Amino acid sequence: MGTLKFTVLYLILLLSSKVTSNVGEWQSATATYTKEIDGSIITEGACGYGDLHKISYGKYSAGLSTMLFNKGSTCGACFEIRCVDHILWCLQGSPSVILTATDFCPPNYGLSADYGGWCNFPKEHFEMSKAAFSEIAELRADIVPIQYKRVNCERAGRLRFTMSGSSHFYQALITNVGLDGEVVAVKVKGSKTGWIPMARNWGQIWQCNVNLTGQPLSFEVTTSNGKALTSYNVAPANWQFGQTYEGKQFK
Ligand SMILES: *[C@@H]1O[C@H](CO)[C@@H](O)[C@H](O)[C@H]1NC(C)=O
Repeated sequence: MGTLKFTVLYLILLLSSKVTSNVGEWQSATATYTKEIDGSIITEGACGYGDLHKISYGKYSAGLSTMLFNKGSTCGACFEIRCVDHILWCLQGSPSVILTATDFCPPNYGLSADYGGWCNFPKEHFEMSKAAFSEIAELRADIVPIQYKRVNCERAGRLRFTMSGSSHFYQALITNVGLDGEVVAVKVKGSKTGWIPMARNWGQIWQCNVNLTGQPLSFEVTTSNGKALTSYNVAPANWQFGQTYEGKQFK
């Protein structure tokens, strides 16, 4: 009887960990690197992050193929990546790096999927910075086989909300998201409004068509594993477009 109880309990634990965990199994993909001058990806990017050094993703950022990018939903998610199955190009012991998804790697249908069209649908491909790539593989390799898995993001500090748009068209860029890093829903509340659902504009830029000028703002952010976090009075009444304000952080 006791054994049966434990077996059932064990099965329940096993099943629930499968359902709630967003950190997956190793999957196969490929990786290349971009030849940026200082070894980092610093361009605007399809996630809306702007200068990546300012928001600290820096060299540990990657552009994702259509399949992985998922129309921008994956922006901010963290991936552990290691080079596998290539004795000449993979560094010994298959060391791994953790990258944040910060950009889209566009398809190139003029090239075949195994020759230049690495980011063509339905390929799973990571375009890394040169500096991060050099931590897993030889730089003389142009493309390497890798394995990746989703991991939780280690973020120093709190969630950041950067205001943009206009009084007709209010937008917030959300960065430095901990936990699984992938924001799937956002609500905003001014001191004179209820909770207003925001829509994804592109990447991690969220918007609503309400005039929120002159009101202190609170935010509710939900990540892909269903955790919601409410930060009250993130921005004061005199908040300005272009400014960044901090909320709480996922634990
Ligand atoms: C938005 O609200 C502010 C503060 O109430 C007001 O000064 C401004 O005129 C409003 N803008 C528009 C376009 O309604």
